[in-house]
Amino acid sequence: RVAYIIKGCKFFGGILIVKITISEASKHVGKEVTIGAWLVNKRSSGKIAFLQLRDGSGFIQGVVVKAEVGEDIFKKAKALTQESSLYVTGTVQEDERSPFGYELTVTDVEVIHEAVDYPITPKEHGTEFLMDNRHLWLRSKRQHAVMKVRNEIIRATYEFFNHNGFTKVDPPILTGSAPEGTTELFHTKYFDEDAFLSQSGQLYMEAAAMALGKVFSFGPTFRAEKSKTRRHLIEFWMIEPEMAFYQFEDSLKVQEEYVSYVVQSVLENCKLELNVLGRDTSKLEQIKAPFPRITYDDALKFLHEKGFDDIQWGDDFGSPHETAIAESYDKPVFITHYPTSLKPFYMQPDPTNADVVLCADLIAPEGYGEIIGGSERIHDQELLAQRVAEHELDTETYKWYLELRKYGSVPHSGFGLGLERTVAWISGVEHVRETIPFPRLLNRLYP
Ligand code: 4AD
Repeated sequence: RVAYIIKGCKFFGGILIVKITISEASKHVGKEVTIGAWLVNKRSSGKIAFLQLRDGSGFIQGVVVKAEVGEDIFKKAKALTQESSLYVTGTVQEDERSPFGYELTVTDVEVIHEAVDYPITPKEHGTEFLMDNRHLWLRSKRQHAVMKVRNEIIRATYEFFNHNGFTKVDPPILTGSAPEGTTELFHTKYFDEDAFLSQSGQLYMEAAAMALGKVFSFGPTFRAEKSKTRRHLIEFWMIEPEMAFYQFEDSLKVQEEYVSYVVQSVLENCKLELNVLGRDTSKLEQIKAPFPRITYDDALKFLHEKGFDDIQWGDDFGSPHETAIAESYDKPVFITHYPTSLKPFYMQPDPTNADVVLCADLIAPEGYGEIIGGSERIHDQELLAQRVAEHELDTETYKWYLELRKYGSVPHSGFGLGLERTVAWISGVEHVRETIPFPRLLNRLYP
């Protein structure tokens, strides 16, 4: 049969061949199609070659039988190199043994570009090597699965907040304020002024909540933290809802509903990906609201009983402490009412005990650590002004923020969910470096 192209359409033996993606294979069973793909791997004998193909939308096996395609095409298929780009033509077959359900009986292979000496081979590679090759590592099945889970979490986030009456608002990235303290800021010049890269959009989201009621943001966040742990990125993405007329407990309800919704969406829409990642999905199936709550004081008591005598009232919990607390539950757990001294200036004191604030950190199960930080915000103008002074913050910089309490102040609450830690937990990936396409880590700005 002769292959030819007229006006971008491929004809093969006089028949028009449709170009499809691998994810569309189910709609073309028994039909001859062309797929633009990369070669992941191949196996071949004297008579048959198996091509593992990927196109971003999925993975499929192409089977090339010498007796059917002839000497030339079979030779070409056998000589294909890893990550070469191809147009593969063939008939779609249903195949239960394939993890993706379909197979392609190949009739033709056209090489678009031959890849020579692709550095990431099927053997094991060290982390630094993979990180240096992140631009290529992203093509692997595992990284593909993590990015798909990440995308599903983002999709479900928009769906959840849009369905629940929230408006998406975009706070600025270049700011003059530092809601989470001044030690972890990326400094830059803003013409003649000083500016910082945003470490949280919260203060702006509070202004937005006074205009739109319930709002959420989703944007890049920067922390110049000199932490080299499996939970810390220098640049990460945060989802920050803020709700007018919501008190502390109202906000916890939104958090547990939101996290449950995201987990259940991933379970439903990322079955293949969770399978590729080897995720124990029975652990995720249990993630349904309500979530348990424990106060800081009770958590401290629990830790002392467990033999952690390195920590006193007023100390922050480190990751071993968080992990020990989380191990007692099979759902995420809220640790509430932390000492005022540990938390930022804007948090509302507990009306029954001013030494603690109406805040909660949500700790994921299985050792993945804190995924949410949130609180009720101070809505009394005088108290907020006092806190700004105590924290030695510049009153001119926070003038607008204080004015939110001058004109129709209302109780309000909000929180921030770290996307990458959430992706790590739901995917069952050890380190956050695999949960963002191009991680920014201490000592890593390449690629
Ligand atoms: O607890 P954090 O610092 O809270 C805030 O920034 C609040 N202003 C949010 C708000 O109330 N609107 O950060 C919130 C979450 C953490 O729970 C964690 O998931 C994530 O952001 N996070 C990080 N993720 C990766 N790398 C880092 N260095 C992170 N720091 C915080």
